[in-house]
This record gives sequence, C-alpha cells and structure tokens, in this order.
Amino acid sequence: MTEPNNILAIDFGTTNTYFSKCPADQISPVGVDFGTGRDGLPTAILYRGDREPLVGEPALHEYGEASDEERKEYRLRTQFKPDIVSSDEAAKAATDFLRAVVEQAQRQHIALDPGKHDVIFGVPSEAHGAYRTRVSQIASDAGYGDVRLLDEPKGALLHHLWHKDFSPEEARRGILVIDFGGGTCDFALLQSLQVSHSWGDMELGGRLFDDLFFQWLLNQNPGVLKTMEKAGDTYYVHSYLCREVKEFFSLTMARDRTEKVNKSVGRYGSLRGMDWAGFVERAKHYLPSPTFVLNMESMGVRANRILQRQQEIDLIDWFRTSLAHGLAEKAVATDQISRVILAGGSSQWPFVPDVVTETLGLQRSRLMRSDRPYAVISQGLAILPALQRSFEETRDKLRQDLPRFCRIQVRPLVQRVTDSYVSGVAADVTSEVFDRTIRPIVEEFREKGGSVSILRESVAAQVKANEGRFRAIIERRMHTLRRGLPGELNELLRDWFESYGLSVGERPIDETQQAAVGQAFVQPDTPDLYGGIMETVGWFVVALAATVAASVSGGGGLALLAAGPAGWIAGAVIGAAVTFLAVRYGMTRAKELADTWNAPAWIVKNVLLPSRIAKMRGDFQNRLKETLQRETRALQDELESRIREITEKQIEGLSEVTQL
Ligand SMILES: Nc1ncnc2c1ncn2[C@@H]1O[C@H](COP(=O)(O)OP(=O)(O)OP(=O)(O)O)[C@@H](O)[C@H]1O
Ligand SMILES: [Mg+2]
Repeated sequence: MTEPNNILAIDFGTTNTYFSKCPADQISPVGVDFGTGRDGLPTAILYRGDREPLVGEPALHEYGEASDEERKEYRLRTQFKPDIVSSDEAAKAATDFLRAVVEQAQRQHIALDPGKHDVIFGVPSEAHGAYRTRVSQIASDAGYGDVRLLDEPKGALLHHLWHKDFSPEEARRGILVIDFGGGTCDFALLQSLQVSHSWGDMELGGRLFDDLFFQWLLNQNPGVLKTMEKAGDTYYVHSYLCREVKEFFSLTMARDRTEKVNKSVGRYGSLRGMDWAGFVERAKHYLPSPTFVLNMESMGVRANRILQRQQEIDLIDWFRTSLAHGLAEKAVATDQISRVILAGGSSQWPFVPDVVTETLGLQRSRLMRSDRPYAVISQGLAILPALQRSFEETRDKLRQDLPRFCRIQVRPLVQRVTDSYVSGVAADVTSEVFDRTIRPIVEEFREKGGSVSILRESVAAQVKANEGRFRAIIERRMHTLRRGLPGELNELLRDWFESYGLSVGERPIDETQQAAVGQAFVQPDTPDLYGGIMETVGWFVVALAATVAASVSGGGGLALLAAGPAGWIAGAVIGAAVTFLAVRYGMTRAKELADTWNAPAWIVKNVLLPSRIAKMRGDFQNRLKETLQRETRALQDELESRIREITEKQIEGLSEVTQL
C-alpha cells in the first residue's frame, strides 16, 4: 500500500487566498504563512513588464510604493475571482497568480509543492458547472495537477465539527453556512453534510465597504482624490489602505460600538471621528464611487448593481435581504436551521450576527464563528481526509465499546438513581398510607372493637380520600427523578463521547426542554436524542404513579393494602372471630358470620399487638418497593435502548463524514 499524500487545500478567494496543509493521517492543519505573519495572502498579482510578476502582499506593497515612472510599467490585478468565467483576463490573472504563488513560495523555502500533495480546491456552492470546469482548468494550467473540488461551506462545517462546536449527529441537521467574504456573500444550507440549498450574491462583499470608507476619506479630505490620481495611487488607497481602515473600524466596533475611531491613511490624510452611527448612515445611503466603478470596469467585472450607480444602496439591508430572500425562494423554513456558521472576513462586521439572529429568530448561542473566520474554509478542506480516517476509527470503537458502556456505566447509574428514588417513594407513601391513614383507624378499632367489614370499608374510604396527598408525594419525588436522571445520563454520555473526541453539545438537557415546548424547534424527522431520555424517564414516572395508585388505592381491591396491612388485619381479626364464634355456631356458620360480626375490643386488642402492627408496616413498605422495582427494570431496558439509539445516530453522523 502506498502512503497517502499529504493534503494541500486552497480557498481561492476574491480578496485573499488561503493555503492549508494537513497530513493525511493526522488532523493538524497549518495555514501557510507567506511571511506576513498572517493567514493566506492577498489575491493580487502585479505585472511588471519584462520582470516576473509579484503576488500577494509584495505585489500590493510594490505597487503602493512605486514611483509614477515605475507605475507606467505596472499593472495590478486583484479581485478577479468572481469573474473567471465571464472574463478571460480574470482567468489569466488567476492562473498567473496561482502559478506565481508556488514559485514565490519555493524561493522563500516554504514547502508548497502541489506535486507532492493531494490538492483540494474549494468552490462556492453557488458555482455552476462552468465555474467548476474553469477552476479545474486554471488549477491544472497553474501546475496544481488534477485537483479535487469541494464545496467551500463544507470546509467551514468540517472545521467547526473538528473543533467540537457540534456533534456529528447535529452536523446532519440543518446548518447554515454564511460566507461573507471580500467580493461575494454565499449562503449554503447543509443537511446531512450535503448542500441542500445555496444562494448568494456575487456582488455583495467587503470591497463595497472598502469603497464606503474611501468615500468617507474623500469627504473629510477635500482635494485628496486629485493628489491620489496624480500619483496613480487611487487603486492602492482604495483597495488596500481603506480596507485597513475599514477592518480597524469594524474590529473596534465589535468591541465597543460607542467608541470613536481615528486613523491615518498613509500620506493621504486621515479619517477622524468615525463612529457607529456615522457608519450606519453611510451604509444606508451607499452609492459606489466613480473611482470604484472605473476600477471594476477596467477589470471587466460585470456587476450590475454596483456599476449602474443609479440608486442608493442600503448595504446592511442588502445583506439582510440576501439572506431572507434566499430562505423564501428556496422555501427554507427557519426551524430547519439548527446552527449558523459565520465564515469569511466580512462576517466579522458586528451587524452580521444582529441581522442573522433577527432574521432567523435564532438565539445568539446558535451562531458560531471562529476567531479567524476567513481561514476556516481552507483549514476545514485540508483536514477532510484525516478527519474521515479518524471518524472511521471512532465509529468502530464506539460500536465495540457500547455494550461495555451500557453494562458498566449506564446500568449502575440508572440502578443507583432509581433505587434511591424507589426507596424514597416507598418510604414516603408508607408513612402517608400507613402512619397517617391506616394507623389511626386501627388504633380506634383496637379501642372500640367492631366488624371487619366496616374496618375494611373505612380503610378503603380513608385511603381513597387521601389519594391526592399520595399523588403529591409522588409528584414531588418525580420531580427530582425527572430532572436528575436525564442530567446524569447526559453527563455520562457526554464524557463517554468526549473520550472519543466527539462532542454532543453543551447543555443538551436545557436544549431539549426548549425543544419540548416549541416542538418545531427540531426538525420533525430528526429524532431528538436527549428528548428521548427525558421522555423515557417521564413515561416511567407516569407508569410508576399509576403503579403506586393502583397498588395502594386502585381498583376496588386495594391490591397491596388488601394483600398487606388491610388484608392482614382482616385475616387476623377474622381468625380470632371465627375461633370465638365457632363455639356457639359451629365452624361453617362462624366463617359466614365472622366478617360482619361486631368483635369486642378485647378480642381485637389481643390480635393487633403493637409489634405486629410494626411488622405489618415494614411488610407494606417492602412490598411497595418490590412492586416499584419491577417497574424500574423496564426503565433500565428502555434507557439502554435509547442510549444505543443515540450512539447509532452519532455513528451515522460519523459515517456521513467518511462518505463525503
Ligand atoms: N474585522 C473585519 N471586519 C469587517 N470586514 C473584515 C474584517 N476583517 C477582514 N474583513 C474583510 O473580509 C474580506 C476578506 O474576507 P475573506 O478572506 O473571507 O474573503 P475572500 O475569501 O477573499 O472573498 P470571497 O469569499 O468573496 O471570494 C475583506 O473585504 C476584508 O476587508
Ligand atoms: Mg472566501
């Protein structure tokens, strides 16, 4: 068998391109750092006449610092990705860029040889066949060989799965990946790890916000555009310096929206007093600047909404409607979305989580974003083969370990918890039934004598009359069982899954309690695992209440009482009565009379000795306990099969990853 190649995954973006490497057999992705101390590199290529082109940071830098004379020779190309299908120039820039990255890396002694790796390229899930064909061609022309294409959102999902932000089982439910990057904004709903719906906007991206800040700069520094144009710097200021201002502003606002921000923009002055309200106002009435439009046009970009420049655009609302319209158009109900992954650099805008939670009606805790959201896609793509291997192993181990887990951990836990519950219920019910209800009647009977049939009736009547109190006792005890047992089981399960490097979510109990209230929260066809445990315990508690009711006061027979204390008292008194009556009436007749005969107190006292009453009490409690324990066996079996189910679901989740 040949050793599998290591993986090189590429998230080729409009603004930035990210390269991640990962061994095939070990989940340890590393982002390739091209010497800037940051992930990835700007998707930029600088053609320099006869000299070989520069890419990434050096390209931008060189262009920014070049003299007018040098600039005449230069041609800077960026943001060509969205246009590789529609523009041959963009496709050529992409090919040259990708080829030059490898060449430059080799010169920098950065190990980045596509020939020694299995190469995975991300593609937007929006992208159609034409785009895929084009990317494959570009990759091959640029020396990356025959690359594997994978949907970008899957990369984001795998990354978060690896970080245990949700379980493999949950990954199968609806997860919305929002990739808000430099040039585009993509939405993809993944179900069972497959993109079931995707939509997006090929024009909505971070570069519009760069332009917003560019205009802000022009407003505050009149005349600066002329200076810039004279120096041939507009492109650089626009797509580089203003982007930096934007990111700085956005990061500050994410921290504190009441701050005011000042920032200088190279030699072109500065932006002062930028605040959230000012930004929102500008975003509401955004109109692409002529500079920006010219830039785009000169690159052959076809972006109607931007290039037309006819109507003011509300940028934040554009994001909101992209999300909402897509949901509506694809008929995605918001309750199909269990979690949202925010990826892409622009998802760091503080308005993004606001809009998403509002539009989807989701709690913020359902949103996740890595601290480097722009890097998650390439990292996630790079770990796929290693993750698949590890999931395959985990899956087998889980299967093997399940019986042991049930036997050694689940069963004893359930036993311990239910035992103490059952003992508690039995003790409480005994003291209620026996001490408070039966004993006073028996005491009175001892004092006054009377007939067995009347005794039996008054016991039955009293027990019946107090039934509400028994139920209250059971209710109270149930409460602790209901809350305690699922909680402990979940903890056990979580630890067990975690020992295999899997997550089952943070607080599954709370979540399912919510789910139980608004049933629509989870998809109807998704079995709700933890709900299952809750339900089982709930069902058990109800069964147990019925058992207690039936055994104490149920039916006409008063089953346990009749067999226990009541029956015993009756038996003892009747025995004595028969003995007494037989002398006068003969045995047969005495037996007939005994039940209704009004026994004198001295006979009763003789039979119902305090020690016997105490023993009777103990008997009653034990019988009750035994009855209840019989019920708990059913619970144990049921819970075990639930846990099997949960494990199977996780295993299926793992299997889906291995089949990607
Ligand atoms: N803190 C931030 N706040 C707002 N935007 C940011 C922040 N950090 C980075 N960005 C923006 O994110 C964009 C880059 O994101 P990313 O690298 O994900 O895009 P991309 O993959 O190159 O583009 P695309 O996915 O559209 O092809 C840039 O516009 C950048 O300015
Ligand atoms: Mg991207």
